[in-house]
Amino acid sequence: MANTIIIGMQWGDEGKGAETDRLSENSDVIVRYQGGGNAGHTIVIDNKKYVLHLLPSGIIRKGKINVISNNVVIDAFNLLKEIDDLRKMSVEITPENLAISDRCHLTLPYHLRLDELNGKSVGTTGRGIGPTYTDKVSRTGIRLCDLLDLSNNELNSKINENLSEKNLLISRKEWKSTVNFQECYEYLLKARDKISPFINRDIGKIVLEHDGSLLYESAQGTLLDVDLGTYPYVTSSNPTIGGAFTGTGVWVDFNTKLGILKAYTTRVGNGPFPAEQVNEFGERLRKNGFEFGATTGRARRCGALDLVIARYSARVNGISEISLTKLDVLSSEDKIPVCIGYKIDGKNIDYFPAYLNKVEPVYQELDGWRTDITNARRADELPKEARDYIMFIQEFLGVPIKRVGVGPGRDQVIEIFR
Ligand code: IMP
Repeated sequence: MANTIIIGMQWGDEGKGAETDRLSENSDVIVRYQGGGNAGHTIVIDNKKYVLHLLPSGIIRKGKINVISNNVVIDAFNLLKEIDDLRKMSVEITPENLAISDRCHLTLPYHLRLDELNGKSVGTTGRGIGPTYTDKVSRTGIRLCDLLDLSNNELNSKINENLSEKNLLISRKEWKSTVNFQECYEYLLKARDKISPFINRDIGKIVLEHDGSLLYESAQGTLLDVDLGTYPYVTSSNPTIGGAFTGTGVWVDFNTKLGILKAYTTRVGNGPFPAEQVNEFGERLRKNGFEFGATTGRARRCGALDLVIARYSARVNGISEISLTKLDVLSSEDKIPVCIGYKIDGKNIDYFPAYLNKVEPVYQELDGWRTDITNARRADELPKEARDYIMFIQEFLGVPIKRVGVGPGRDQVIEIFR
């Protein structure tokens, strides 16, 4: 029995969903602790593809408790759709296996509208995430507990106060798309009606009752953290380990702090990306790795593995072991560039800079293996060059790589025992 936290070491989309699904087998409670429907975990089981946005990956398994904790923001309509879609695929979702914190903030129609109008420079997912967190910090947000604890009159005035402010902002950009009271009111009524059974008053209690068998699942990745990532091109929450504590309201010790690292790098949306490959290598990564967003369908930007970023993430999160994902995507390369350092104005730097846009990447080329590795199940079934690639990363980071993904299937994984 142990507590594990899973954290993305890059800009999200590292393949956390598959690891969460695997590890949830041995955990009683699976916790999603930040973010919202901007995440997109894809899990493949028996050739069936499940795409999750808000629900913890443990929902696919029977007999698990899934917790959506207080720092998650919820678009009620999208959550209800996700629940319906999964039910159609015979996944059972009841208040016995899903508990949602009453402190979660709701994404209302005006948040979506504001994200649509203001999110372009960052290249957001358009799910209203930033505006919802903005309201949380401005202390004007509407939380799930409000659906239970406020009278209709109180709720109405909260909507009206928000609308008068938001519609002013919206109309400055585009008067046609202002939001009306009825739209918000009906949204909240539906949320009250359908989500209430899942609302929990004390998710910290559930977590502590299962201390020793917890799995925490972050959404996005370290470089998208609002405090520690590539600000301002970040999401509005803390996917890093600190977010797990404010995100649930209780402290627990993690026996394993599992970093998920993709064998190359991708990024969705705008912002600096030092090891980006706008060339045929990048194209191959996108094509072979199916690098299109699970939430938005957008083509992801692709680049070489950036070990400066990985080392920074290992430090921020105290990563104790790594799962390296999608190694098979590199199988058609003769030579594989890996970013091992940064220069600014021609000089090597030994710190992680607040802005990555001035950074020049320093690469080392490693040998490729040009062999299909999707059927390998043991390290000794991998070509020497692939093992060297893994060892190079491990030595650079000083953190053990315990598992290597060689394909999307649940069984396409190599356990590395040393
Ligand atoms: P937001 O989270 O929708 O506000 O978007 C802010 C930034 O985070 C944008 O660059 C998004 O593309 C990025 N982002 C948000 N969620 C994910 C994710 O799950 N994977 C990868 N990038 C994401």
